[in-house]
Amino acid sequence: MRFEGDIPVKRVLISTIAFIALGVVLMTGAFAGNLDSLRGNATLSETNEAGDINQVIENGRFAVNYRQQPPLIPHKIEKYQINLKVNQCMRCHNWQYAAKEGAPKISETHYTDHRTGERMDDVVAARWNCTQCHVPQVDAKPLVENTFSK
Ligand code: HEC
Ligand code: HEC
Repeated sequence: MRFEGDIPVKRVLISTIAFIALGVVLMTGAFAGNLDSLRGNATLSETNEAGDINQVIENGRFAVNYRQQPPLIPHKIEKYQINLKVNQCMRCHNWQYAAKEGAPKISETHYTDHRTGERMDDVVAARWNCTQCHVPQVDAKPLVENTFSK
């Protein structure tokens, strides 16, 4: 006597074997090189070469394009950390160290609290995140047309 939901063992066995066989057939096909990726039979570096990384230009300074422009940085900066507590730019550009390091001191605007006009002895919070305004100078071509004029 058969109860409902009782699947004969033979049927389960046959479908399992068929499933595995199908998998094996598909896999052999793929490994035999019958499947081509969309970019053809080429390595990624052949079809999609990585672009050049712009190198920081360390000798000389770029002229600014308008009077208020933050000057570009004429040196590499990847080793200098800026976070909530630490600002390694300041170990050369703060007034106490600038002369010793031969670095220009940050200007007075960097010590001035913009809301109260008060002059501080250390860089103000509004100027803490240096790289928000200053970027290293590179020979980068404009990505899009720019019609800015002074
Ligand atoms: C080890 C010392 C040192 C550290 C750290 C340092 N700088 Fe400098 N920086 C210099 C020196 C030296 C110059 C001048 C280079 C020259 O005249 O060619 C300079 C120049 C600059 C200038 C150009 C100023 C001008 O008037 O043209 C900017 C902007 C600047 N740095 C920003 C930064 C920022 C932002 C950081 C942190 C990400 C930083 N620097 C970290 C030493 C340092
Ligand atoms: C909000 C934008 C802004 C931020 C943030 C900022 N700067 Fe500047 N920086 C300027 C501008 C604009 C100038 C041009 C002179 C001026 O307006 O004070 C300048 C000038 C300078 C100069 C040249 C000073 C001189 O007398 O020629 C140095 C060096 C400098 N910044 C370093 C830094 C460092 C280091 C930090 C981070 C601690 C920083 N700046 C953060 C906008 C900024």
